[in-house]
Amino acid sequence: MFHVLWGMYMSLFLVLLFAVGCNGLHVQGPSGPLVAQLGDTVLLPCFSQIHLPLEGLQVEWRKADSESLVILFQQGEIRPDLQSQSFRDRVHLFPDEISKGNFSILLNNVVRNDTGVYRCKVSTTQESSETEVELKDIEDLVKGADHAIFASVGEEVILNCSVDSNLPAHMIEEVSWKKRSQDQDDLILFFQDNEVFLSHESYQERAELFIPEIPKGNFSLKVKNVKLEDKGEFICEVHTSDWSAHTTVVLQKLGFSTSQILILVLCFIALQLSVGLCVPVFILLKNKATSGKVMHASLILCPNICIFVAFILWSTDGSLIEIVTCSTVSILRPLMLMKTFPHLDRFPKRLATTVKALVVPVYHSIITITACSIFSQSIRQIQTGSEHILTVMVVLEGMCSIGAGVLAGCSLRMHSTVVLQICNGAVLGFILIIRSKEHFQQSFLIPSILVPIIIGIMMVLTLQRHYFQGKPFRCLHIVLSSTILTIFNLAELSVYILIGISTNNFTTAWYLPLEAVIHAVAWLSMIFLLRCNRCQKQRCHFVKRGIGYVCCTVITAALIITFGVLCVYYVNLHMENDKDRAGYMALTAFLHVLSTISLFKHPKHLPDLPHILIYMFGAVGLNIVNSITLITELSLKADKGAPTLQDLRVIVVPFETIFVSAWLALQIYHFWMGTRHRIKQNFEDQREAGAQDPQAMVALSPSVPKPSDPSEDDPSP
Ligand SMILES: *[C@@H]1O[C@H](CO)[C@@H](O)[C@H](O)[C@H]1NC(C)=O
Ligand SMILES: *[C@@H]1O[C@H](CO)[C@@H](O)[C@H](O)[C@H]1NC(C)=O
Ligand SMILES: *[C@@H]1O[C@H](CO)[C@@H](O)[C@H](O)[C@H]1NC(C)=O
Ligand SMILES: *[C@@H]1O[C@H](CO)[C@@H](O)[C@H](O)[C@H]1NC(C)=O
Repeated sequence: MFHVLWGMYMSLFLVLLFAVGCNGLHVQGPSGPLVAQLGDTVLLPCFSQIHLPLEGLQVEWRKADSESLVILFQQGEIRPDLQSQSFRDRVHLFPDEISKGNFSILLNNVVRNDTGVYRCKVSTTQESSETEVELKDIEDLVKGADHAIFASVGEEVILNCSVDSNLPAHMIEEVSWKKRSQDQDDLILFFQDNEVFLSHESYQERAELFIPEIPKGNFSLKVKNVKLEDKGEFICEVHTSDWSAHTTVVLQKLGFSTSQILILVLCFIALQLSVGLCVPVFILLKNKATSGKVMHASLILCPNICIFVAFILWSTDGSLIEIVTCSTVSILRPLMLMKTFPHLDRFPKRLATTVKALVVPVYHSIITITACSIFSQSIRQIQTGSEHILTVMVVLEGMCSIGAGVLAGCSLRMHSTVVLQICNGAVLGFILIIRSKEHFQQSFLIPSILVPIIIGIMMVLTLQRHYFQGKPFRCLHIVLSSTILTIFNLAELSVYILIGISTNNFTTAWYLPLEAVIHAVAWLSMIFLLRCNRCQKQRCHFVKRGIGYVCCTVITAALIITFGVLCVYYVNLHMENDKDRAGYMALTAFLHVLSTISLFKHPKHLPDLPHILIYMFGAVGLNIVNSITLITELSLKADKGAPTLQDLRVIVVPFETIFVSAWLALQIYHFWMGTRHRIKQNFEDQREAGAQDPQAMVALSPSVPKPSDPSEDDPSP
């Protein structure tokens, strides 16, 4: 029993002795891996708490993977002869520090091959101890994908980016993901203070990090619903207080999605149909053949429907406003083609009359209403609380459009045009409200310039029609014009009062009531003038009236052009630095040309060849342009990974504008030929003759036809 106890006591004593002996020398290294960049100088620490005598002390640094000797300190001196070749002259030990227990070395001019684990082994005659120091290359701390990533459009991809798990999470100050594009890197999102901030519009709802994985150093990016323009290099950048490192993940070779293949197929069908039907239809039209109804119908309908569907499918790639504008324009094009169809008079009489009178207002209205609904949609995303104003504005826009259609249906073309111009003004207002919140006060200046122009157009046209052309001055016209004028004046006054109340200063917008008064006075004096002159028109010399008529035409043209140019100018001015600017400018210009068309009566006898060419341009040329644009854009995007055109409207809408402008030019030409003829002759005689000669009559009237003659639109008496 005693022996057993004694034995246990002795063994405990020996164990304690051994433990104390071992604790005598204990070398330590750094707490985590060391990070170095190529070319750096790095200190590899290794130290013990106690001072050691130099006799019998040996310090040995080896690289763990190859066991090559980094440096050896033996018997009070460094042994360069045993040192490995690759570390010669690059390693520095501090002999003065050794006695203090500091065995650290300094490694100069770090090369890629230096990364790895180093072992620091310290031995005295009785004992030895060692520690490991890991040296890492910065770029190895952040790991991306092993290979390029392949995906199809619409799929989801995970772009790997993981930070070395030994690196404490609190050291990471910021992690950012960027997409490399031609000139600069676009920031997609960044992670800072445990929060993720999205910063790129196009990735707003498509990119995310795996939040629960972040503490493990997994900063992989998930991109949902991959688009063609995502192709390319993604960069994951990690910043700590001392260093930053990055890795690149390549998203390569995106396959087309089903909808994109469908777009290509539809575009090719549209292209084939347009090109294939082009020559036969041209020959039919040239020969004034009555056959080929099916061919005409398919040329008018099929390619446009194909392009329309293609644009709808494009919606995964484009912005909403772009898609809606382009698809609306293409689905409505058959209407415009019917209006410009050279054999329109072969249609049933009712249909032909309706097409002539209503196509332009309807076309214009649908485009403005869809555009405005989309505008209000996009404002709702930006600021809440403005829904009511916008709804009211959309409703007003709709009422104006319907009004314009009804007026055109009643052959009141002048009023219809004026109302369409008001719609254009409202569209401009919409664009400005969305895009320039900071210019809100200034925006009131714009209506104060545009409203007088619209009223000016109305007055000059009234003067022309009733004074210089001598048409009857009917109650309906006065009432309609006065109503429009009154609405404008009331609007100006209420805006004035609203500004006054909101700023508590009734002098800021002084020009608004002044304008209202001027409008009212001018209008009343014109009515007075017209009423006085009504019975005395015979006294007026026909040359004077002819000159007055032409002057009015010129002034009207100048006012209409000024109005359009000003609207485009304001869009340009207020949308600086906006990527949608070109698209909105194109849309504004297009709407102005359209509204101007409705001022003219549908011409009856047009020169054949220009008429056919314009129609062919609309039916064939526009579809070719649109399908080639879509095909090119899609293939360039697949190739370069970035959209070439920011906005398809920049191509689609201007070409549409060329088409309608050509039609406008033809109408103006027709009108001018008629007017020239008319000025040469006595106005009175001409007017009498006009009753029997519908051709001359039609040619003469730029404004409202005689409502007493409902059959005026018929091709022949
Ligand atoms: C060891 O010596 C080096 C060089 O003088 C010094 O930079 C380092 O801080 C020292 N390490 C310790 C633990 O004292
Ligand atoms: C890299 O280092 C190992 C030892 O760590 C050595 O054997 C090898 O020759 C080195 N290679 C180069 C290219 O320096
Ligand atoms: C991303 O990381 C995961 C997990 O480590 C791995 O299975 C996958 O292969 C990596 N992807 C790429 C493209 O390297
Ligand atoms: C990061 O986490 C996600 C989600 O768990 C996983 O799919 C991905 O493979 C991880 N990446 C790495 C590099 O571990």
